[in-house]
Amino acid sequence: MPQLHSRSEESSHPTSEPSPTIARAPGKIILSGEHFVVLGAPAVAMAINLYSQVHVIPKNGSGLSVTADIPLRFLAGKSGNPPDPRELLLPLQMAAEATLKQTGSIDHALQVDVECEIPVAAGLGSSASTTVAIISAVARSNGIEMSKKKIFQLGFVPENFLHGKPSGVDQAACIYGGMIQFSRPSNVKTVRLKKDPVLLVCDTGIHHMTRTLVGGVVQKSKKEKKDFQNYLAKVREISSGVARSLREGDDEDLGTLMNQNHELLRKIGVSHPKLDHLVEVARRAGALGAKLTGAGGGGCVIVLSPSRGVRDRIARVLRREGGTPYKISMDTGGVESRPA
Ligand code: MEV
Repeated sequence: MPQLHSRSEESSHPTSEPSPTIARAPGKIILSGEHFVVLGAPAVAMAINLYSQVHVIPKNGSGLSVTADIPLRFLAGKSGNPPDPRELLLPLQMAAEATLKQTGSIDHALQVDVECEIPVAAGLGSSASTTVAIISAVARSNGIEMSKKKIFQLGFVPENFLHGKPSGVDQAACIYGGMIQFSRPSNVKTVRLKKDPVLLVCDTGIHHMTRTLVGGVVQKSKKEKKDFQNYLAKVREISSGVARSLREGDDEDLGTLMNQNHELLRKIGVSHPKLDHLVEVARRAGALGAKLTGAGGGGCVIVLSPSRGVRDRIARVLRREGGTPYKISMDTGGVESRPA
C-alpha cells in the first residue's frame, strides 16, 4: 500500500503523485435556530451517526471522475421519475475541483466515489456531509491534511450553488462532530453535554428544496421586519437555553424549548401539515419535545424522549402514522480521512 505523508497545508506543496484515500463525515440535525441562523441568530446542531463515505483513487489519464451512490428513493418527482443523477453529481464535482485548485493539484487525475447513507433533501445534512468528506479525502490524497477551518471555507463552493446563501451551520456540524452552537459567519462553540439526549429522527417522506425555502424566509424577513426582529430575539433566547439545558442535562427544559422553536418555524411558514401531524403524534405518545429540523417544507421531525423505552414506543407510533423513524445518536468524530 502506498504510504501517504500528510503535511500541514500552511507549509506544504502537493505531492507529485496522488494516493488512495478514504474519508467519512456524519450527517446532522438542528436542535434550534434553523432559518433564523441565516439571518444572524445562533443555532444548536448535532452531528449524527448516519454517514457519507468517499474513496479517492488515482486514475490513468486526466481529470476527475465522480460517482455517487446516494439514497434517491424519496426524490421521485410528480412524474414518479427520480431526478437526473447528473444534477446531484455537479456539486460533488465542484467540491473535488475546488479542493484540487486549493491544493495546487489541478492536473491530478482522480476517481472520486461517494456513498451516502443519509436520506437526501430531508434536512439531515446529506449535501454538507458529502461535500466535507470529498474535500477532506481529495486534499489528503494530495498529501495535505486540511484544517477544519479551511474545509469549512471550501464547503461554501458547492453549498452556495445548492442552497443559495447558506449560513454554514450544516457543514460546521459535519466537520466538527458532537454538539455545537454556531453563528455566522464562522463562530463554532462545542456544547459539552451532561448526558446524551435520547433523540429520534422521523422522516415525513416529503422532500424539499432548501434553496427555495431559505430564499422564501429571507424575502419574508425583509417584508415583515418588525415580526422578524421579535422572532430573532426569541430564537437567541431559545438557542442559549438549549445549550444551557444540554450542559445541565435538563431534558424537560430542552423539550419545552424545542416545542417553542417549532411554533416559530410554523409561524414563518416552513412547516408542513404531515410534519405537524407527526410532531403532535410524538408529543401525545410521550415526547418531551418535537420539532422540524433543517429547512422544513417536509423533511424530518426530531423528537426528544425521556427514556429509550419511550423512544421505542414513539418510533412504533410514528411508523404507523406514515413516518420513517431513525434511532440516532451523536457522532463525536466529525469528518475524518486516512490513507486507503
Ligand atoms: C438547513 O439545514 C439549515 C438552514 O438554516 C439553512 C442554513 O442555515 O444554511 C435552513
